[in-house]
Amino acid sequence: MKMFLSILIFSFTTQGFAKTPQQQADYALNYLLENLSHPQVLAGAVIASPSQKNPNYFYHWVRDAALTMKVFVKLLPSKSRVQTNEAQRILTQWLEFEKHTQTLNNPTGHLGEPRFNVDGTADFSPWGRPQNDGPALRAVTMISWALTLLKMDQIDFVLNNLYCQSGDCPINKDLQHVIEHWKEPSVDLWEEVKGDHFFTRVAQYKALQLGIELTQRLGDVAMYGRLSQTKPSLQSALQSHWDASRGLIRPTLHQVDGWTHKTSNLDVAVILAALVAGVEEKAWGPLSNQVLATAEKLSGAFLNLYPLNKNTTFPAIAIGRYPEDVYDGNGFSGGHPWFIATNAFAELYCLHGEKNLGREYLKRSVLHSANDGHMSEQFASTNGYMHGARDLTWSYASYLTAYFACY
Ligand code: NOJ
Ligand code: NOJ
Repeated sequence: MKMFLSILIFSFTTQGFAKTPQQQADYALNYLLENLSHPQVLAGAVIASPSQKNPNYFYHWVRDAALTMKVFVKLLPSKSRVQTNEAQRILTQWLEFEKHTQTLNNPTGHLGEPRFNVDGTADFSPWGRPQNDGPALRAVTMISWALTLLKMDQIDFVLNNLYCQSGDCPINKDLQHVIEHWKEPSVDLWEEVKGDHFFTRVAQYKALQLGIELTQRLGDVAMYGRLSQTKPSLQSALQSHWDASRGLIRPTLHQVDGWTHKTSNLDVAVILAALVAGVEEKAWGPLSNQVLATAEKLSGAFLNLYPLNKNTTFPAIAIGRYPEDVYDGNGFSGGHPWFIATNAFAELYCLHGEKNLGREYLKRSVLHSANDGHMSEQFASTNGYMHGARDLTWSYASYLTAYFACY
């Protein structure tokens, strides 16, 4: 964790970095693959981090896993046969693991269970439940994978493993979950607040939208009809998150439980939602003016909040989860910028067509990673040194998806 010489060099000489964004992408992929092949876990389990204490992130989180697997869907159509086979192998192992977790009795009592033990058993410790973004995000990644396979003429794999006429495949079950449960409040992606969340709803909306596309291609008229029927009410629920008087998208409506100190109504979860939606979704994707307006308010808040951002001449600042955050990665001594949040800004601006600005955010993230490319969950709001769970799988994955958008 001796990484910070580069910031000094940068501010005094305005020279480049110890490593390029491309080199960091190579590091990120390698460390990500290391986490996926951890010797102590069942094949297909995606550990959030190898850290087993202070904090213990040695679990398979459904959300982190689904967002991580987006990387391999992206890498699947490749000129290199080896790469295609490797991506397909990794995706298939994850699929097998999820197929298994979907059958487990769990404390939530449905598929909104947030995380599982790495040996493939359910986790009965007290936790924020349900987290209904999980099945929706898993459906989004698996359907994108299925649509990619259809383009590669691999319909048999899709029909036998991903989406089956019997209704018994993982995508069928997750879509069913979205249809049945989207109206219920659930715990947000930060595992702190129970209510109706923009992030969760965008994930659910995207699952419906992609589900509509898939069932149309596969000719499942019944499911196509049910998905299409659900869509309009979810769409208007999403519209109600826009706060016209403040000019921002509110992360949570109708809070029923959990922390009550998030009064700014600013949350990078809205930007993460836009990345799940993708550029095709004009209303909630990276091209949306409402999303952009929210992003500007967020960066304004973090500019004032973190000492690290105050004296920088760097165009892109460090971004955290939300201004009132006090979680330091292990305890509650105060909030910090996160790699996934800073990477999200990079991806947002690159997808929005502002590649120069997006790349600056990516460089910001490279700057706070270790010289040898390691990335934890957070970096200190004062001096930028890494802390929080080490080698966070999601940090690497979000760096890579941002990198794909920016280069
Ligand atoms: C651990 C969660 O994963 C994190 O997001 C949260 O801030 C803390 N617990 C506090 O609830
Ligand atoms: C805490 C984050 O808030 C949550 O989103 C994540 O799923 C877990 N850590 C595991 O990485």
